[in-house]
Formats: sequence, C-alpha cells, structure tokens
Amino acid sequence: MIRNTPGGYGRVAIAFHWSMAVLIVFMLVLGLYMHELPQTDPATFRLYQLHKSVGFVVLALAVLRLFWRFLNPAPKLPDTMKPWERLAAHAGHIGLYALMFALPLSGWLMVSASPWNIPTVLFDVLPVPHLPVPEALGQKAEAEATLKTVHALAAYTLVGLLVAHIGAALKHHFIARDETLRRMVSTAPAKSAA
Ligand code: HEM
Ligand code: HEM
Repeated sequence: MIRNTPGGYGRVAIAFHWSMAVLIVFMLVLGLYMHELPQTDPATFRLYQLHKSVGFVVLALAVLRLFWRFLNPAPKLPDTMKPWERLAAHAGHIGLYALMFALPLSGWLMVSASPWNIPTVLFDVLPVPHLPVPEALGQKAEAEATLKTVHALAAYTLVGLLVAHIGAALKHHFIARDETLRRMVSTAPAKSAA
C-alpha cells in the first residue's frame, strides 16, 4: 500500500513521518548543542554548516510531504476519541506541519540577515543564495537578532508540541489500546479484537 486508505497510512506517509522525525530530533539536539560551543572554533563552524545543510533537507522533504498529504487524506481517527481530542489531534498536526516550514525558513532568513554574510553551501557542494530580508526587520544585525529569537522560539514550541504528540501516541497505544501508533508503523491491516 503506497497511498493512505481510510483505515491506515500508506508506505510513503510512513517513510516521510519517520525519516523526518529522525532528522528533526537530530536538528533540535544539534541546534541546542552547537549554540553552546565556542563560536570561533572551526569545529563549531562545521557543525553550523551541517545544521544548515540538514535543515534544507528537512525543508525539501516538508514540501514533498505536504504535497503528498494534499493528495492523501489522513486515515480516520478512532471512533472512541472525544471531540476535544480530535480537535487537539488536528491542531497538533497542523502545528507540526507549520513548524517543519517555520524552522528552516526562519533559519534561512537568519543566515541571510547576518552581517557576517557567511555563504551557505549544502554539504560543501550546493551553494544556496541568501533570501531578501524584509526591511521591516530593520538593519542587518537587528534583523538577525529578531530572527534568532523567532528560530529559537519556534524550536522550543516544537519541543513542547512533540512532548504532547509522543505522549498522545503512547496513550493511544498503552492506555486506549487502539490502532493509532501501529498504523504509523506498519501498513498491515488491523487485527480484529477477537
Ligand atoms: C517518537 C516519536 C514520534 C511518535 C511516537 C509519533 C507518532 C505518531 C503517530 C502515531 C501518528 C499518527 C496519528 C494519527 O493517526 O492521527 C503521527 C502523525 C504525525 N506525526 Fe508523529 N510521531 C513522532 C515524532 C514526530 C516528529 C518528530 C514529527 C515532526 C515534527 C511528527 C509529526 C507528525 C505529523 C505532522 C503527523 C500527522 C501526519 C499526517 O496525518 O499527515 N511526529 N505521529
Ligand atoms: C528542522 C529544521 C531546524 C531545526 C529543528 C533547528 C533547530 C535549532 C535550534 C534548537 C537551535 C538553537 C536555538 C537556541 O537555543 O538559541 C538552532 C540554532 C540555529 N539554527 Fe537552526 N534549526 C533548523 C533549521 C535551520 C536552518 C535551515 C538554518 C539555516 C539555513 C538554521 C540556522 C541556525 C543557526 C545559524 C543557529 C544558531 C543561532 C545562534 O547562534 O543563536 N537552522 N536551530
């Protein structure tokens, strides 16, 4: 099953979910770690370049994933879920999709605004141009500082949403004992309760 069905996610949605989950968690850890290192060390510079490169991979995957998502509606939520739980699940997923774009885009804008004008070369191979920075954000240094705050706030919001997201997945699996987590892992049809 390549595509989603009303009963479960297809292989493509599952592959997007878990490959991006690994990359995004890696990016959160790397971002928090590199931020604490001495900024003049060449090893720190290489980690920043890696952070930027993987961030662009996340952005490209997010574009493809959203496109696939529009063509493939999500499977039905379990009937046992209360209206507020359905609303929270939908709002949480929209928030996660939004942050998959907001993080790389705010990062890209931040490095574009930097007065140091450091080039971004993905994996030392593919140069990426700087974005035009909106004038409303002020002079370069001021715009960079604002965008740093936006990027960090987006990252902390993502951590909070992920705690709720993973908590909800575990609650579905171990407390409600429904198919929610299993169908994001495998395309095999649900076993009957008998
Ligand atoms: C251990 C970590 C994770 C677990 C256990 C997990 C679990 C799940 C499960 C079970 C679903 C299906 C929900 C449903 O059927 O309605 C889901 C959907 C989703 N997850 Fe995760 N997830 C994890 C990490 C992540 C990460 C890091 C992200 C990205 C920031 C993410 C983004 C999403 C999105 C956007 C959906 C909705 C997919 C769609 O309907 O298109 N998840 N997750
Ligand atoms: C999924 C994508 C991304 C995630 C999850 C992410 C996450 C993070 C985190 C957690 C931090 C540390 C924030 C702090 O504590 O102040 C950080 C910093 C940073 N990120 Fe990202 N990031 C992503 C994409 C990008 C991209 C695409 C770029 C640039 C093209 C970028 C450039 C930077 C830079 C330059 C810093 C250091 C900011 C500083 O010195 O304060 N990030 N990122």
